[in-house]
Amino acid sequence: MPIEFKNNKFHLYNDKISYAFEIGADKDILGIHFGGRIIADDVNEEKYSAKSFQCVKMLEGAAYRLGVFNSDYPTATTPDFRIPAFEAEVKSGKNCFSFKYKEHKIIKGKPEIVGLPAVYTENENEAETLILTLLDADSGIEIDLHYSVFNDFAAICRHSVIKNTGSDRVIIKNAQSISLDKPAGKYDYIHFPGSWAREKQLRRHPVHEGEQGFESRVGSSGNIENPFMVFCDRNADENIGEAYGLSLIYSGNHKFTIECGEFEKPRIQAGINPFMFSWSLESGEEFSTPEAVMVYSDEGIGGMSRTFHRLYRSRLCRGKFKEAVRPILINNWEATYFDFDMHKLIGIAEKAAAIGIELFVLDDGWFGKRNSDTCSLGDWYANEEKLGGTLKTLAEEINKRGLEFGLWFEPEMISEDSDLYRAHPDWVIGFPYGLELQGRRQHILDFTKKEVRDYIVDTISAVLKSANITYVKWDKNRHVTTPYSNSLPADKQGEFYHRNVLGLYDVMERITSAFPDILFESCSGGGARNDAGMLYYMPQTWISDDTDAVMRQYIQYGASLVYPVSSFGSHVSAVPNHQTGRVTSLSLRGTVAMNGAFGYELDLTKQTEEDLNKMKEHVEFYKAERELVIGGDYYRLLSPYESRYSSWMYVSKDKNEALVYYAVTTVLPNNPIVRLKLRGLDKNKYYTLNGRRYSGKTLMNYGLDMNLEDIQRECFIWKLKAE
Ligand code: GLA
Repeated sequence: MPIEFKNNKFHLYNDKISYAFEIGADKDILGIHFGGRIIADDVNEEKYSAKSFQCVKMLEGAAYRLGVFNSDYPTATTPDFRIPAFEAEVKSGKNCFSFKYKEHKIIKGKPEIVGLPAVYTENENEAETLILTLLDADSGIEIDLHYSVFNDFAAICRHSVIKNTGSDRVIIKNAQSISLDKPAGKYDYIHFPGSWAREKQLRRHPVHEGEQGFESRVGSSGNIENPFMVFCDRNADENIGEAYGLSLIYSGNHKFTIECGEFEKPRIQAGINPFMFSWSLESGEEFSTPEAVMVYSDEGIGGMSRTFHRLYRSRLCRGKFKEAVRPILINNWEATYFDFDMHKLIGIAEKAAAIGIELFVLDDGWFGKRNSDTCSLGDWYANEEKLGGTLKTLAEEINKRGLEFGLWFEPEMISEDSDLYRAHPDWVIGFPYGLELQGRRQHILDFTKKEVRDYIVDTISAVLKSANITYVKWDKNRHVTTPYSNSLPADKQGEFYHRNVLGLYDVMERITSAFPDILFESCSGGGARNDAGMLYYMPQTWISDDTDAVMRQYIQYGASLVYPVSSFGSHVSAVPNHQTGRVTSLSLRGTVAMNGAFGYELDLTKQTEEDLNKMKEHVEFYKAERELVIGGDYYRLLSPYESRYSSWMYVSKDKNEALVYYAVTTVLPNNPIVRLKLRGLDKNKYYTLNGRRYSGKTLMNYGLDMNLEDIQRECFIWKLKAE
């Protein structure tokens, strides 16, 4: 049983991790440890501490100083003056609380969180869940703390459920999903700031005294900060040291905080951003926070990533594509933008079929009267005049050429110049305020309203039923600016951001479950909503509009810290690159794009025969190796953030096959020799590579010397096979 309760201590464990905390003398929940496996009974930390400027409670004749202990869910207005995980007010005006342990239960498996995405189990023997209830006796507020531990993953999932069992209305101001105190030490944290076309840029900082962290206030997880953080020992690197990853399974405003206070013990929290947030609970109502997943690794940051990859691929993503190889696609966006007709599309599809591409994706511009980004979002019916027929006919024409057919939507959006807006201007977020603020000339539909959600589910479903569509790209191209819904009363406007995210989850759940055979890829101007919440509904993400083969190395590296490579939409596009203007070789573009769900996004009718032949080679190579790319264990070898090149590899489960990728970010003449130390192989096996035989030991301990010719190349992919 991976959860034990003994001597007032809870111990959640498996072979790799322990998560321990206890019920303190005053019935507080005091943290003990999250990290490598321990014997919880051995720990006996002093709970009555020395003199300090603390507020104390005298218990058994000794001063009990809550403010210096580790807490597992600190609430405001106690002697613990560090950042609280929970703040609220009750209608009567009382906002001081004293939450104490009430009861707990341990159950098999992991219950779902209704309405929110979460990690799941496929059978109840995979995990156990502890639900521990805290009670503030005066107000009747209860907080259920949920902790799940798996047999096979070095991960803990946490969230909390706030229940109003009193008679007064409760207004939640802040309810974090996780709070964790670490012992004093030297730590770093890593986050992933960015913007459009340069998402998920890895940045590492020393943890210092005071508050630090990052957040999103754009209404979704956003491209400015990703809802993921690494917290690690100062000396941890890719392969060694202790690293913790904290990922929030949520697509709305998030906040990640580390506070290192007077006793130098960092407190780490993640959850819904309290920015403009409040939530009213009437008597008998409850509120669930999103789930936070914390992974521990004693094999550096790389080990942490591999745990996230396995967990998210197999127990967060759902449906038939979650671990399946993906069709190689051609997307017409950068090939044609809005300027296409049936003839042009078929021309591209024919070229695509000839080089072995499997799926044709028709991007923006197929509906309403949309020939630019100024109109028609919301009018989800085909522009038959432009297409030269119905979607059904187009799909059939594409199918006849041996390709599947996929379609772009932006279901959450509405253009002012649209039939939908003319009929329902009040369906827009903010209406009647803030309408002068547009992003890409569009507004956002108010998904807090059921009638809006029903309309979108019905219209999108009708399109999906109308033709043989096997893939959907689900886009979202602006941030939220006026977080107001005319359907909510004045004292509930603080609920808007979160209700809108819940509305989105409802819509996605209904559509994706009604079309289980469609592969869904999420997108938000590229990676402005590249988060674990979206992966629950859609196993693939267009992680950036930036397809430049140099920038992509940084973006893919950053994203790979937490999200499985299987979820990355990754395309070869034209040069000069449309985002950066950079010209890179087709080899470099192909090498970088053949990671994750590979595809093309350029006008194939304009390519030279030589380039088409090269693409055909790439397509054939990817088809032969994609199982390894989608399902293999991923090892980062060289970081583009630390050198002029990047290198990474995939290793099969049985360690009999591996692919080693190498790509440069900057071409340098007279390059020094690089030796690539491989990872993840079997040290007792022999591998062949380029006709030579190497022992796994040598490849991992000495490495592979790149020869003079290799070192002058921009990129290569090597295949290793065990004898
Ligand atoms: C966004 C997406 C692009 C493309 C355009 C279409 O920017 O990220 O890939 O689909 O919208 O308008």
